[in-house]
Amino acid sequence: MAERDQWIDLGAAAELAGKTLQPVEAGTVKIALSCINGAFGAVHNACNHVGGPLGEGALDGDYIICPWHQWKFHRVSGLGEPGFEEDRVPAFPVKVENGRVLLQLNPTKRQKKPHEPHPLVRPVERAPGPIRVAGISTTAMDKGAPRYSGSDDLLASALKGAEAQGCETQLIKLNDLKFRACEGYYSKAAHACTWPCSITQMRPKDELTPVYEALVHWADAVIIATPIRWGQASSLYFRMAERLNCIQNQVTTHNRVLIRNKVASFIVVGGQDNVQGVAGQMLGFFAELGFHFPQFPYIAHSRGWAAEDMERNVAEIRDSTDLHQGAAELAGRTVALAQRLLDSEPAARIARGGRKAHALD
Ligand code: FES
Repeated sequence: MAERDQWIDLGAAAELAGKTLQPVEAGTVKIALSCINGAFGAVHNACNHVGGPLGEGALDGDYIICPWHQWKFHRVSGLGEPGFEEDRVPAFPVKVENGRVLLQLNPTKRQKKPHEPHPLVRPVERAPGPIRVAGISTTAMDKGAPRYSGSDDLLASALKGAEAQGCETQLIKLNDLKFRACEGYYSKAAHACTWPCSITQMRPKDELTPVYEALVHWADAVIIATPIRWGQASSLYFRMAERLNCIQNQVTTHNRVLIRNKVASFIVVGGQDNVQGVAGQMLGFFAELGFHFPQFPYIAHSRGWAAEDMERNVAEIRDSTDLHQGAAELAGRTVALAQRLLDSEPAARIARGGRKAHALD
């Protein structure tokens, strides 16, 4: 009898019926085995999207919800949920005989509905043109009652400095974008954190795409400006940084470096101190993304812990020629390095070692 016609014994029906959904193995094939009221269903364990383990998901009626990004497949037929039937995972014949669950390795064909690739997926190729600088403002404020922001003002001076050197610039205000916090797909599995970000792919209304566009595709340099909030960068900065995990994770999962030959620098201002801590975190994080830094990669201003008269901080920044000139000079250093990197022969491949202990299979 051909192997595909043989019935493989998965185990005792009474025992396997104890769980509505579970991963099981039939020889070397992983199966998502489900059971509702004694009726078994068996589909391939690997989701059509990026291979999430369906058997570890949950049931919504007769549909298995993938635990990674919630695509749904019928637990018996393998068809995608209504509207997505063209997407199907292999379904296996399964039956109960003499109290045993039996399965044939003779599945229906996997079929993937062609999905339009997300525009961010395109190859990273620098378009010709002058050096392009993206400024990212991370300050949070009520848009209905805008007020002066020291970090934004210095960022404006930095971008003006870049324009004076013939650069194209773009200002992105995180406060203008509605975007979700990272939902920790990486914590489910390294491969569940995808490029583009799983949230970006699944939720067309999420507005972080301009930031990904600028960092990965458009810009040669980015200047990120933040206020200090309780000794840290702003909450909007961290919300963005967590969502940038998908860029760093590509190195881990696919040895794919999305950020090459790009430069980052920073502007940090705050009523109270911890400039070095804030700048250190930002430097460490952007280094992990693959950015280069100019010499003296940040400017900062703080009047220290005891300076509770915040209005004077604001006035100091607004009226300081030194600080605004320093912002323009920061842009100058940033642009100069971006130009040097563009002019130099790009490294074919950068070895990034030091993490072998728990390397992914
Ligand atoms: S929905 Fe299954 S892997 Fe993404």
